[in-house]
Amino acid sequence: MTKVVLVTGANSGIGLALCERLLSHDSEGLQLCLACRNMQRAQAARSALLASHPGAQVALLQMDTSSVSSVVAAAQEVKLRYNRLDYLYLNAGIMPNPQFDLTAFFKGLFSSRVIAMFATGEGILTQKDGVTADGLQEVFTTNLFGHFLLIRELEPILCCDGRCSQVIWTSSSNAHRSTFTVEDMQHQGGTQPYSSSKYASDLFSLALNTHYNDKGLYSSVTCPGFVMTSLTYGILPSFPAFLWTLLMPIFWLIRILTNTFTLTPYNGAEALFWLFKQKPESLDPRAKYHSLTSGLGNNYTQPRKMDIDSETSEALYQKLLQLEGEVRRRLKEKQRDSKLVHSSAGLS
Ligand SMILES: NC(=O)c1ccc[n+]([C@@H]2O[C@H](COP(=O)([O-])OP(=O)(O)OC[C@H]3O[C@@H](n4cnc5c(N)ncnc54)[C@H](OP(=O)(O)O)[C@@H]3O)[C@@H](O)[C@H]2O)c1
Repeated sequence: MTKVVLVTGANSGIGLALCERLLSHDSEGLQLCLACRNMQRAQAARSALLASHPGAQVALLQMDTSSVSSVVAAAQEVKLRYNRLDYLYLNAGIMPNPQFDLTAFFKGLFSSRVIAMFATGEGILTQKDGVTADGLQEVFTTNLFGHFLLIRELEPILCCDGRCSQVIWTSSSNAHRSTFTVEDMQHQGGTQPYSSSKYASDLFSLALNTHYNDKGLYSSVTCPGFVMTSLTYGILPSFPAFLWTLLMPIFWLIRILTNTFTLTPYNGAEALFWLFKQKPESLDPRAKYHSLTSGLGNNYTQPRKMDIDSETSEALYQKLLQLEGEVRRRLKEKQRDSKLVHSSAGLS
């Protein structure tokens, strides 16, 4: 039986590398759906995948995870196309306007935290967040809430037939408890929305397991390590490409000290791919599955306990449900208003 796999943010970086790895593993047994916001880039990704796997079933879906109406419309489309979904990879993510704190970096360089700083980016990265057309914080919505809504919308085809489905998140080792509070889950008042959104994904994954395992839905969290993608290049946008290339030998050396420097999207997708092959019941809901690459370039996956607790996880889950109620109410009002405008335009 073919497996239906949907990947968000599939047109570049780690998402695209995952699709390539899944097709190399089993190009005939998969129906792959690339959910992307930009259809031109999505089409280019599809063409690249089909060039190496000509017979593969690769479909496209337009979805912007930062837009409530886009997520709802995309989910309706998925439910029309597929009777069930076996794997839902929640990988789309942004780190907008990152600011690199050079002072903190040099301080960290000569402290005992140097390896942790390189491995997790803790303390050296802040971002300037925006607000979406729905009035929500952009990073929170793109990285977490859009995906939360998608799961809620797709529930009928994720929890069905008595078969298990897997939700797999691309989180980060930059997900720190210190950047998150349930009271400000959108991170309106802080400067580290990326870290906060990733920590919230870790918490929400635990809540999903608590509430949905008995319905056959399992959720896991991964960290791809430090990977050279458009997201990482965006940390130092004025850095010319050739300087990144010059830095690569230094990064390979750092890899000897910290195996989290996976560097290529292929290596970064290791844990996402590894989870595809696991029985979800055997996975630890409190573990983050890390893609790691040894100094010699060997890839492997390692679970590491997450710094999360059930109480905060449940509190976040309830707040997300509450916000969902509010945005659905606003969406209905908007749809009703636009119907009224259309019908009065038709009358005049
Ligand atoms: N690179 C790293 O070192 C690293 C480390 C830890 C975690 N991660 C996580 O890995 C995931 C993939 O990132 P990447 O490194 O592969 O970077 P990337 O190449 O920039 O990929 C991000 C993907 O997300 C998509 N996306 C962004 N906003 C979206 C939206 N509103 N709706 C739908 N899709 C959207 C992008 O689409 P567009 O092409 O249209 O922008 C792109 O396909 C992210 O969740 C990121 O947080 C990366």
